[in-house]
Amino acid sequence: MVKLTWEKKTEININLVKLKQKYSNFFEDFIDTLSFSNEPIVTKPQFSSWKNKLFWGENLEVLYSIVNEFENKIDLIYVDPPFFSGVNYKIEILEENKIYDSIAYVDSWQKDLDSYLQMLYERIILFQKLLSQRGLLFIHLDWHASHYVRIMLDEIFGENRFVNNIIWYYYNKYSAGKKNLPRAYDNILVYSKSSNYTFNEIRIPRKKPRKQLVRVNVNGILKNAKDENGHVKYRTVIDKKLDDVWRIPCLQPASKEWTGFPTQKHHALLERIIKLGTNEDDLVADFFCGSGTTLLEAEKLKRKWIGSDISEYSIYLSYKRLLNYQKNHQKSYPFNLLTHMDDEKKKMLNTGFFQKDLSIKRKK
Ligand SMILES: C[S@@+](CC[C@H](N)C(=O)[O-])C[C@H]1O[C@@H](n2cnc3c(N)ncnc32)[C@H](O)[C@@H]1O
Repeated sequence: MVKLTWEKKTEININLVKLKQKYSNFFEDFIDTLSFSNEPIVTKPQFSSWKNKLFWGENLEVLYSIVNEFENKIDLIYVDPPFFSGVNYKIEILEENKIYDSIAYVDSWQKDLDSYLQMLYERIILFQKLLSQRGLLFIHLDWHASHYVRIMLDEIFGENRFVNNIIWYYYNKYSAGKKNLPRAYDNILVYSKSSNYTFNEIRIPRKKPRKQLVRVNVNGILKNAKDENGHVKYRTVIDKKLDDVWRIPCLQPASKEWTGFPTQKHHALLERIIKLGTNEDDLVADFFCGSGTTLLEAEKLKRKWIGSDISEYSIYLSYKRLLNYQKNHQKSYPFNLLTHMDDEKKKMLNTGFFQKDLSIKRKK
């Protein structure tokens, strides 16, 4: 089998007993420390004590802390990690009358591809463990590293678990290139845990209705259907099966869904992914959740969810988006906010960070 290697590639050995000892009480719920509670009226299903989970922290620690409880239990994992783009994503924050700059997240890696690959490798091994037998992993990348990661996924999942390389063609993003063609797509690599994964058919409208031959199965052979005069029969089709090239725009700042978080993905992209790979009440996770797009779409589609991010601005935005949605809609499950509390976080919480009314803007 072909395997990708890099300097200091370290195979990780997951010892569930040791992880349980070290991480069982690592993350604590801090919703109670906020001056108001997000405890919603639970409308459905009353018999379940499930709570969705939003972790503020390093996702490797989050994965270590949940792997005992959630091994083979997550039905869909979508991740949109740093792409090895070399960019540090800046934001401008407006708080009351003050404006200050901060970093949403860093993707520079000091040009060290090895450490980037090792970071993903360790996490993908845990994603594979967490997926249920009917589960799918969607890993969103671009031209910088997707070719390496595909080989890594073959190693971890097995080549025969490759499902698709979805091309997200974002036709509306201007991407300069003097000595190359403008780059206009991302890759979303899809792998399954077993051969028995959930895969719902999605149909999309055609630009124009089309006449199509009616086919019938005659003793296992497909033949053209004919009318009583012996003429072949046609039907008009207005939609078609979704293929692996998805034409969805990049989210624009004018959109009402826009949060200001750099690299926020379009809600239509996540809606499609979740509908394709899960059914109602299935469990969806995003361990690089950014502004919380996956979690919000999972919430809207009545799936359970787990999310995490290391950045306080991500958690702030995800929390506000979810809370806002839950205020205006019938909710399925309440959610917990969890973190590994340290002095810095305590200080932030004491300043009422999550109660603030911040306006966040991507900064070029
Ligand atoms: C490309 S953004 C995700 C954007 C998201 N899909 C959205 O629609 O808003 C990547 C996110 O990964 C987070 N991240 C990077 N490294 C992480 C780590 N080790 N643990 C947790 N989060 C991490 C960053 O803070 C950032 O929010």
